[in-house]
Amino acid sequence: MLTPRPTTGDTEWFVHDRFGMFIHWGLYALSARHEWLMTAEKIEAALYRERYLSRFNPTHYDPRAWARSARAAGMKYVILTAKHHEGFCLWDSAYTDFKATNTPYGQDLIAPFAEAFRAEGLRVGLYYSLLDWSHPDFTIDMYHPLRDNPDAAQLNKERVISRYAEYMRNQVAELLTNFAPDILWCDFSYPTETYNGLPGKGRADWKSDQLHAMIRRLSPNIILNNRMDLPDVRADVYTPEQIQPTEWVRVEGEPVVWEACHTFSGSWGYHRDEDTWKSPEQLIMLLVNTVACGGNMLMNVGPTALGTFDPRAEQALGVYRDWMALHGEAIYGCTQSEFTAPPDCRLTQNGDKVYVHIFAWPFKHLHLPEMDGRVAYARFLHDGSEVPLTGSEWETRQMTIRPGTQLLFLPVRKPDVTVPVIELTLK
Ligand code: GLC
Repeated sequence: MLTPRPTTGDTEWFVHDRFGMFIHWGLYALSARHEWLMTAEKIEAALYRERYLSRFNPTHYDPRAWARSARAAGMKYVILTAKHHEGFCLWDSAYTDFKATNTPYGQDLIAPFAEAFRAEGLRVGLYYSLLDWSHPDFTIDMYHPLRDNPDAAQLNKERVISRYAEYMRNQVAELLTNFAPDILWCDFSYPTETYNGLPGKGRADWKSDQLHAMIRRLSPNIILNNRMDLPDVRADVYTPEQIQPTEWVRVEGEPVVWEACHTFSGSWGYHRDEDTWKSPEQLIMLLVNTVACGGNMLMNVGPTALGTFDPRAEQALGVYRDWMALHGEAIYGCTQSEFTAPPDCRLTQNGDKVYVHIFAWPFKHLHLPEMDGRVAYARFLHDGSEVPLTGSEWETRQMTIRPGTQLLFLPVRKPDVTVPVIELTLK
């Protein structure tokens, strides 16, 4: 069996737990049209602030309700955007006034959040944006709302990026000491991307080496992601976004701890009118496929301006809740199998248990390569019913069975679960 290369941060619980919730929440929830709206619509910081900071009042914010939904869905950890690219801070930072305590709501949002999720038994992580479109020292670049301002280059002369890097170190230190997260998810770097002569940003701008050293000093075991542009430092977790790897993610040829992040629909922040919501089958298949490639999955919810989960998000969480209630053992503690999956199936494995996740229901027979003589017993996870390993002589006589194949004899009708799973106990 493949195992990922060792990490500095404590990833032991992480690779066991496999499934987490991402939460993107900030002032952009009020716009209800994507967390990038500030730059997409080229809104200047002062106007953005005037329009949204003065109106942020999530009167229905109840992090215990979020935590209950996450736990019911089978999620074991959560990562919240403490600050996204807009620069708004969800906690009472000493280094800015662009924060939750200066809204009509008037309260820190992170402490009650961390408490609520921990009370439900979930680990807590924080996302921190390296980009900041509101900070006066953040130089204008290709993603900045002022990128097309004819005076951009001139304006940049007054902006001192090293002061911004110091601001980030101060804020990250604050987050680590105030909330003791298990994961820090910094986002993102673009050192080679330029726009009209405006350079991108990477480790030289963020002072990533200093930031990294400080994080490790304050929180030696924290899980740190790979988006700080530090090619010579091993990240604890690699983070492919909105794609489905087809095999274990590798760095320099070695399998690594990795985590795919996905959205229920196309936006991370709450998006009222976006309509590409994934089907129940897609939701389950994303999770299964990820674990079958040795990875974790972080599924995102974008809460509304009122602080609630939108009914579509609740419905999608319900898909995970129903499936995970019966199939959790095929996810937790599981990884890529040593065996090859039959067509239209994925395999996960935990020791002597191999789980066959059937994505397209075949007619009566499943051919398991490499497993002849290896299976002691097979059963469905959703009802515990036995799946026979042998059938009638008349049936098998008519088939072409490749050497080494173990057959499973299935009911004609697909069981009434989103993705049926057969558990194989190895001899
Ligand atoms: C991206 C986006 C962003 C989102 C993140 C999640 O880099 O900038 O809005 O927070 O991915 O992975």
